[in-house]
Amino acid sequence: IPGGTVRATLHRFLRNVHQVFSSSRNFATRTRFQNKEATLAGTPQDARQAALSDAWSLVHGEASRLRPIHLSGLFAEDDKRFERLSATLDDLLIDYSKEKLDEAALDALIALAQAADVEVRREAMFSGEPINLTEGRAVLHTALRAGADAKVMVDGEDVMPKVRETLDRFLAFAEDVRSGKYAAADGKPFTDVVNIGIGGSDLGPAMAVRALAPDADGPRLHFVSNVDGAHLADTVKTLDPARTLFIVASKTFTTLETMTNARSARAWVEAKLGQDAGKHFAAVSTNLDATADFGIDEARVFGFWDWVGGRYSIWSSIGLPLAIAIGAEGFRKFLAGAEAMDRHFREAPLSENLPVLLALVGIWRRNALDLPTVALIPYDQRLDRFAAYVQQLDMESNGKRVTHEGEPPHSETGPIIWGEPGTNAQHSFFQLLHQGTDVIPVDFMAAVNARNGMEGHHNLLLANCLAQARALAFGRSEEDVRAAMAKKGASAEEIDKLAPHRTFPGDRPSTVILYDRLDPYTLGRLIALFEHKVFVQGAIWNVNSYDQWGVELGKELAGQLAPLVSGEATNTAGLDASTKGLLSRLTKDRK
Ligand code: F6P
Repeated sequence: IPGGTVRATLHRFLRNVHQVFSSSRNFATRTRFQNKEATLAGTPQDARQAALSDAWSLVHGEASRLRPIHLSGLFAEDDKRFERLSATLDDLLIDYSKEKLDEAALDALIALAQAADVEVRREAMFSGEPINLTEGRAVLHTALRAGADAKVMVDGEDVMPKVRETLDRFLAFAEDVRSGKYAAADGKPFTDVVNIGIGGSDLGPAMAVRALAPDADGPRLHFVSNVDGAHLADTVKTLDPARTLFIVASKTFTTLETMTNARSARAWVEAKLGQDAGKHFAAVSTNLDATADFGIDEARVFGFWDWVGGRYSIWSSIGLPLAIAIGAEGFRKFLAGAEAMDRHFREAPLSENLPVLLALVGIWRRNALDLPTVALIPYDQRLDRFAAYVQQLDMESNGKRVTHEGEPPHSETGPIIWGEPGTNAQHSFFQLLHQGTDVIPVDFMAAVNARNGMEGHHNLLLANCLAQARALAFGRSEEDVRAAMAKKGASAEEIDKLAPHRTFPGDRPSTVILYDRLDPYTLGRLIALFEHKVFVQGAIWNVNSYDQWGVELGKELAGQLAPLVSGEATNTAGLDASTKGLLSRLTKDRK
């Protein structure tokens, strides 16, 4: 019997044993998530730590076994690799067979997810437990897309009636803006809508409006986020204040960038419309006192709740710009897509669960193979802001250096995510991906069918996507390069000189995500897929994926420096020499 088969059988046996123990444990004891003394699933802390530590050792053992084997070797060994290492949910397919793992490694990863109580934590999230421990909040973006009969309790209250009422209200407003029933001060329809927000109050709707361009048949949408005045100035340059509606979107309604842009936008509208400017503003926030102070009529204020994190808020009234673009029906399809992914995530076994598998592949890359970054490359031009969206979703969630208990985590946490659409990326940074000294795993995304009516383009787009994944995995050996050059008549001297430069090492992992076509339903599924992937990884690392203290220090220091930059204050005592030097340069020549 080949060694690999024995190992795989042994792993499967251990996994089954573990599964029996963990499911009876989960069934018997549903200790509240936040009760650190009693621990997560009712297992004594030491036993839980020991099980986790064993699971990590198993994963690292698998990595040591697989590291020396080239991806071509893994494919040569097993002609059913694609069948074994891919998973589907309806038309959505994830092919992770070009990752440097095999079934035994996957079994070890699944055992790790079980030892980390991913299933118990998942239930805690869906059922409204306050899993955001540092802020004492539930995490319930899933409630925003829950089905008609769902009941979700927070602090003893079913939140669903209010969720549905708010959804109906903001979708009705979106339809009124689209139809012209809610019109500008002069009674004519709005032609342009500008969303002012940043981070989670910008990236989601901005990304989704671009992604769903074929579905957008309402007024034109624009997004202003940066406090750099260029963003607002360049956006309004071609707009008419009489035809423009502004949505001020901010969970807190205190964010410096958003409030600064909102005040400037109001001045711009007031300069032309005077008293009537108010009709041209709507707001989305959890801070209804602040929206009232800003002077926005409560009929055009749409709320949400503190249990919706900013980067998880596109499903709430933060999605208003998207609803204005694609209409209420389109927005409901978008929610239905996310709900389908929620159901799958909650119900499918870990070994067939798309978000879990994506998360485990990420853990494998990050922790077992020590690969800290991921390039996210949609071969889908309309997803050109998807990497930026996932950057906030993932890096603000899991960019954490302590566990729930405030201790250093067992291993490295959130990956560094970056990316651009293919094929453009091929003509910029793919050189380094193929031949650089760092191995950078790639997540490819592509639609099987295009929605652009441009004959022939989509075949070329898809061929390029598959070609890149192949080139990364299998490369081109020096031997092949030499043979090909000799065949073309190159001299021995030329071959010696150029062969090393023309060789591709390969063995560079990638995952391909395919979907039938990019429509509201599928976009909903894709975003929820990544949300749950982040959840699973956060659970395995035992970090709080739902706070973001790391953004606070910079905000505080900017507040202190602002008067020094503007010249309102001059006392630089206590500042470091570098900041003093830069300040003096900044203030010297300011016109
Ligand atoms: O600074 C980070 C952050 O707090 C994000 O988490 C959030 O999405 C963004 O700022 C915007 O916050 P708000 O919606 O409150 O304006």
